[in-house]
Amino acid sequence: MNYLNMTKRELELEYSKLNQDYKNYKNKNLKLDMSRGKPSSEQLDLSNNILRQEILNYNIDNLDIRNYGCLTGLESVKKLFSEVFETDTQNMLIGGNSSLNLMHDIIANSMLFSSSESKDCKPWKDYKKIKFLCPVPGYDRHFSICEKFGIEMINIKINSHGPDINKIEKLVSEDESIKGIWCVPKYSNPTGITYSDEIVRRLANLNPKAKDFKIFWDNAYAIHDIFDNPDKLLDIFEEAKKNNKQDMIYIFYSTSKITFPGSGISFLVASDNNLSRIKNWLAPQTIGFDKINQLRHLLFFKNSENIKNHMKKHAKILANKFLMVDQILTKNLSGTNLATWSKPAGGYFISLDTLDNCAKKVVNLCNEAGVIFTPAGSTFPYGNDPDDKNIRIAPTYPSIDELFTSIDLLCLCIKIISIEKLI
Ligand SMILES: Cc1ncc(COP(=O)(O)O)c(C=O)c1O
Repeated sequence: MNYLNMTKRELELEYSKLNQDYKNYKNKNLKLDMSRGKPSSEQLDLSNNILRQEILNYNIDNLDIRNYGCLTGLESVKKLFSEVFETDTQNMLIGGNSSLNLMHDIIANSMLFSSSESKDCKPWKDYKKIKFLCPVPGYDRHFSICEKFGIEMINIKINSHGPDINKIEKLVSEDESIKGIWCVPKYSNPTGITYSDEIVRRLANLNPKAKDFKIFWDNAYAIHDIFDNPDKLLDIFEEAKKNNKQDMIYIFYSTSKITFPGSGISFLVASDNNLSRIKNWLAPQTIGFDKINQLRHLLFFKNSENIKNHMKKHAKILANKFLMVDQILTKNLSGTNLATWSKPAGGYFISLDTLDNCAKKVVNLCNEAGVIFTPAGSTFPYGNDPDDKNIRIAPTYPSIDELFTSIDLLCLCIKIISIEKLI
């Protein structure tokens, strides 16, 4: 039923019926949280044997892993993960339990110290104003980092191939105060899209006015395929190397959604220049990251084939949930012209757009019935979605039953709020 073609009388009748359904939901006293993209306990159980790895040999790579040292991480662990991430070990650093932590610290250090070999560049704090490009909708914690350091954020629209590359090329070539861009290039949070080869190539070949411009390539969902025919992402580091632009790129990965969020390991891939600067930044900060956890991951997985098989087990759990969300959205909203949503082949999110100026009200209405969604607006810098239409759905954590209820309620609230707008 196309709501946009309904008469006022038809909409009013539909509205009172929907409100009755909403009251029934309210009477259920639901208490569900759909707000964060966390793995479910069933997914976490897949990695329990990490905790049972007995470390019999402490000497790995000619190093006693119980002791201090080895700032950039164990070579054997780099080798293992470089095979799955399809990158080389030479430019890799293994960090602590969080890639977000690495991103934050690189920005903090760039504020305090120059992040370029060029003599023209100063610490970012010494510029009157600095700016980052933010493909939107995007990951709220990237935006929080910028907000914390007073970095002005510029929205860049994402479409099904990636962010608006014409706009990016123009802005970075003209404005020296633009120092960076956030990219989640594969199964982007929350749109689920993967950047096309053309977009990756053009990003790798940007000609920024700022010599210390950096691409923060947060490949958090690099191997998180859910369905057959997974998306393929071009290697931006290799592309950048072709024109000697590798100093422009920082690449991040982590095992947060492979093993345990908060207790996994993180990775940085960066050019020789960048790595040597980052090592200097890190050295006074830590003598080395947690090598015991690195070794636990190595003993648990043993080889890259096992990591791939492990990700297939995650995919099996997630496929049912993603399919179900799509089915409920299709059943309730298809043909209504009230919403559009993404159908990603992997990652952690489904992104839904309501009619303009409806998302906040929809999320509030769901909250009043006991189901918490990610606050509307949080997928945009400063929590401000200019069209107030984007809602991030995180299907991974809730059980199938909880998911069914939450998405059914979401559809109901979308209809109610849309009718209020239409009337
Ligand atoms: C795009 C993106 N980057 C980074 C993170 C956090 O990564 P980590 O746990 O390695 O800090 C998340 C978590 O949701 C994410 O979605």
